[in-house]
Amino acid sequence: MKNSSLALCLISAAIVGTILFSCNTNAPTETAKAPAVAADTLWHAPDTATLANNPNAELIRYGGQLVANTSQYLGPKGTVAHSTNGMNCQNCHLAAGTKPFGNNYSAVAATYPKFRARSGTVENISKRINDCIQRSLNGTAIDTESKEMKALSAYILWVGKDVPKGKAPAGSGLKELAFPGHAADTANGRTVYVQKCQLCHGGHGEGMAAADGMGYQYPPLWGGHSYNSGAGIMRLSKLAGYAKYNMPFGTSFPNSQLSDEEAWDVAAFINSQPRPHFDIKADWPDISKKPIDHPFGPYADGFTEAQHKYGPFKPIADARKAASK
Ligand code: HEC
Ligand code: HEC
Repeated sequence: MKNSSLALCLISAAIVGTILFSCNTNAPTETAKAPAVAADTLWHAPDTATLANNPNAELIRYGGQLVANTSQYLGPKGTVAHSTNGMNCQNCHLAAGTKPFGNNYSAVAATYPKFRARSGTVENISKRINDCIQRSLNGTAIDTESKEMKALSAYILWVGKDVPKGKAPAGSGLKELAFPGHAADTANGRTVYVQKCQLCHGGHGEGMAAADGMGYQYPPLWGGHSYNSGAGIMRLSKLAGYAKYNMPFGTSFPNSQLSDEEAWDVAAFINSQPRPHFDIKADWPDISKKPIDHPFGPYADGFTEAQHKYGPFKPIADARKAASK
């Protein structure tokens, strides 16, 4: 098999006229596109040692605790309130929102308040935090004047404090993957899930409770205790980008244990599973602004809900481009 893939590689190189990609026959086929950014040029969070001189240090540290151990404070058995489902912010915002391409908070201080088409309003940081509390943590909004909201905001602002206003630094948020040429395949996604995810996240996506019973050692990916249908990670591009450069746990950009194809497929499998419902009637007051991969209609274009959910996305992107000319 090695010889034939080497031959294919050489033929492709000949057709392209120049060797654009690595012809390492051991590499998974999908990793042909080299990442455009080198890992060592990516944003890094400020050093927590510098907090010593910060008059707000206590509040900022508490905010970091709330991100990392949300369930201890706000989960079903939380010590402060019972506002969330037992997951932690950190489950999705890795390393307390400081990991490059680990859905970090680097761009928040520099870009909020900002207009968001989902709500059709200018959102400040507390509104955005409550969005994740209500959707990603399937919970109830917390009081914007509470110590917890002030601490979460102070921490997130501190994480992004050195980023120039209006900028999203290299490595911010999640890394988007190129759209595949075909629809994501939930059946192949199930195979990927069984091979590479199930060990930790469980046969039914239920995760594994932490020993102290306060939250999870491995958070749930679907079912009654997971993120609800209104969460941002319901968009395939978000889950695929998260999975590719962060999962299985311990994976970091630019390394990946999943090909792009596997990342899209496993995302499709996970997001096709049952989870709590969230009423999104008030979302996207201007439906023409709905992202291409928003999984629920109505849409301003003629593409089906299934195509918006699983792809192929490129025809939708092309149609939008043509319409906006
Ligand atoms: C189930 C996964 C998940 C959990 C849990 C979660 N979030 Fe999020 N969060 C997301 C996703 C996905 C985005 C959108 C990222 C994007 O648009 O690229 C997001 C975006 C954000 C943003 C805006 C980032 C930006 O740059 O615009 C903030 C702030 C935020 N979350 C705070 C929180 C806080 C605080 C918690 C815990 C109370 C939390 N999130 C829990 C998935 C999650
Ligand atoms: C070795 C154990 C392990 C494996 C294997 C693993 N994960 Fe995770 N996963 C974790 C842990 C731990 C977290 C939470 C990270 C944190 O809180 O710091 C997590 C978080 C997540 C989250 C965000 C939180 C949530 O519950 O929605 C998603 C999505 C996810 N994993 C998907 C996957 C996918 C897809 C795979 C397979 C490709 C996978 N994981 C494999 C341990 C694992």
